[in-house]
Amino acid sequence: MLKVAVLVSGGGTNLQAILDAVDSGKITNAKVEKVISNVAGAYALERAKNHGVQGVTLRRKDFENKRAWEQALINEIEDCGAQLIVLAGFMAILSENFTKHFENKIINVHPSLIPSFCGEGMYGLHVHEAALAKGVKVSGATVHFVNEEVDGGKIIAQKAVEVLAGDTPETLQKRIMQQAEWIILPQAIDDIANNRI
Ligand code: GAR
Repeated sequence: MLKVAVLVSGGGTNLQAILDAVDSGKITNAKVEKVISNVAGAYALERAKNHGVQGVTLRRKDFENKRAWEQALINEIEDCGAQLIVLAGFMAILSENFTKHFENKIINVHPSLIPSFCGEGMYGLHVHEAALAKGVKVSGATVHFVNEEVDGGKIIAQKAVEVLAGDTPETLQKRIMQQAEWIILPQAIDDIANNRI
């Protein structure tokens, strides 16, 4: 059984998709052991609680520096024995100190087709604002391994989603979540848990 820690910052719809996929058997051989938020009161923590999964808050500003905060994250992850770390709407950038510690054990979902609309500053609605400003007709989501380069690790899965006339960042975000993120992120976890990746 692959033990998974999920890192979140906000609403946690991707976390919900993972928890539902475990319940429905779409993800096998994996269990979410812990949810860690860097934002106090994130709704994702409520979702964890409703599922009987332990939730922990670790805010960067409660630590002296980034290294101390990342060490606290490492300790929480190692405490629960997690072998896979899933960034599911985690809006902080992890340094090489952290990514090297868990080499090939961290995956992230990003709401665009990397290498478009990614890198520092490209997160959440900003990504969809940039896609609409560029006028692309297709966007989507990417699941990738996390290394020291922001959104630069090896790509695991991608799914394209149509951009429609009249889309706002919010409507595009929703469609990309529904048609791509909530599908390819649980699939990637299932693939890792069952040694297909
Ligand atoms: C998702 O669209 C996710 O891909 C994105 O934030 C949203 C979180 O939603 N992540 C990033 O932009 C990371 N660079 P959620 O909290 O409902 O899962």
